[in-house]
Amino acid sequence: MTDVATQPFWEKAISLKKLEDAGKLVVKISGKQILLIKSGDTIYALNNRCPHEGFPLSEGTLSSDAEERECILTCNWHSWRFNLDDGEAIVGGDAVRLYPHEVRGGEIWLDISNPPPEIMRKKAIDGLHQAFEEHDYERIAREIARFERAKGDPMEALTLAFSWAMDGLESGTTHAHAAAPDWLALRGSPAITNATDKRIPVVEIIGHLSWDCLMQKGPFPYSEKIAESFDADAFERAIEEEREADAIAQARAGLAEGGASLLRGSLQRASLAHYQAFGHSVIYLDKTYELVELLGKPAEEAVILPLVRALCSTAREDLIPEFKAYGPTLSAWSNAGNKIPDGDGFRDQGVAAAMKLIAASSNTGEALYDALMHAAWDAMLHYDARYRSFTDKPVQQNVDWLDFTHAITHLNAARKNCADQPHLWANALLQTGCFLGRNSKFVDWQQDVENWKMADAEPLIGDVLEGMLDHGEPIYIFPAHTLKLATALREELSIKPDASWKPVALAALNRFVNEPIKRKHMRRVVTQASNFVELEG
Ligand code: FES
Repeated sequence: MTDVATQPFWEKAISLKKLEDAGKLVVKISGKQILLIKSGDTIYALNNRCPHEGFPLSEGTLSSDAEERECILTCNWHSWRFNLDDGEAIVGGDAVRLYPHEVRGGEIWLDISNPPPEIMRKKAIDGLHQAFEEHDYERIAREIARFERAKGDPMEALTLAFSWAMDGLESGTTHAHAAAPDWLALRGSPAITNATDKRIPVVEIIGHLSWDCLMQKGPFPYSEKIAESFDADAFERAIEEEREADAIAQARAGLAEGGASLLRGSLQRASLAHYQAFGHSVIYLDKTYELVELLGKPAEEAVILPLVRALCSTAREDLIPEFKAYGPTLSAWSNAGNKIPDGDGFRDQGVAAAMKLIAASSNTGEALYDALMHAAWDAMLHYDARYRSFTDKPVQQNVDWLDFTHAITHLNAARKNCADQPHLWANALLQTGCFLGRNSKFVDWQQDVENWKMADAEPLIGDVLEGMLDHGEPIYIFPAHTLKLATALREELSIKPDASWKPVALAALNRFVNEPIKRKHMRRVVTQASNFVELEG
């Protein structure tokens, strides 16, 4: 940033006569390129770099509006159009900067001082909000750069983005929230040192939130009701009975009384009450509280209320036939099972059989956790990738990599939250069994996985994470999962560097990042839709 005072700072630029002869001229002062234009009796002084991609506006085309009251400059590269009376973009996004000017004794003088930083920050935030509404990724990046350049804290911009997203999301929390703490962890890692790379996670989080909102037809405002005082039982009952307005009223009261930490116990119980949203709930809970930690109190409402909404609206898969063994096994849980668990023992076991195996090992503590972690990575390593390409299977068999990654990130999130409430372990472990049982139909144990083996966790995990900074994937949800999976693995290995399941985990991660996800299924979608319509009668 050119260091120019924020107080008026006048510099002599050029003689009026010279500008009148030329019509327009570019002058360079203190590192700034300023375009001077004389149109009729009016002089305009503006930044010569187009705020879109920086091409010179001196090559643009001048015109007037229909009534010839305003002078319009069109940048000829991509046709952004600027009203030179105020610098605002008539077509395009960002405004072009204008410079105050005066004619003194036949000379044109320019005030090249920068506006005060608070004005620049406000302008950047206004621009960011507009870019957020339109999912203009490039402008999001520009406005974040401008905000930081004016000494703005990117965490403040992020907090605002979470608040803008609130009413835009019908089902509350999304993977944009869930991936955000992992992006911020990457931003803070010692491997990421330069300012530009540190900005990428911020832009990606805001872009993802913006995209998720754009894809839904909001707004979906929250109830403004607030309970008289926070009542944990009433809060949990409202979530269980999917009464969002009542749950939100309790959440608001809890936030006012004791902040996010007061709600945490209830939200842990609610997020593990069911096998819900295929394990997303506890992942969302875990990441929401990481966000609260990273962004602080100002972000509490913006991330907690969407989580409450998500828990109220999420599907409870344990209520559908495929997972019906979950409820009775949980009810009968005794913490008395002493059978030493064997991770390979989960191979080819359906949901009910997986429930039985877990219950039989219910008193083996860490050994059971490790066995489930092994089984989840093992299933992922042996995913039958033909399911990415089948087009003639029923909808229930639309199984892809992400069905496998969730089992692992679910277990990772559960470990951290069950530490606070050990009685929730039964729920978490049995829910992992739901993943394993369901996924057991979509693996190929005969496939050769030798080539995927890796000797060391690093540099594999480090490379995967560093690669996230330029992942090249336009659909946010896919890199979000890669990021969450690699981060979860790093976390788990930081606790247990020699975990028994480490070799299979590294091989599975290696295979996952080297076998592309099929992102669009044209023939499958049309075939399944056609079959469905045939049965409609
Ligand atoms: S650079 Fe000016 S419109 Fe694109």
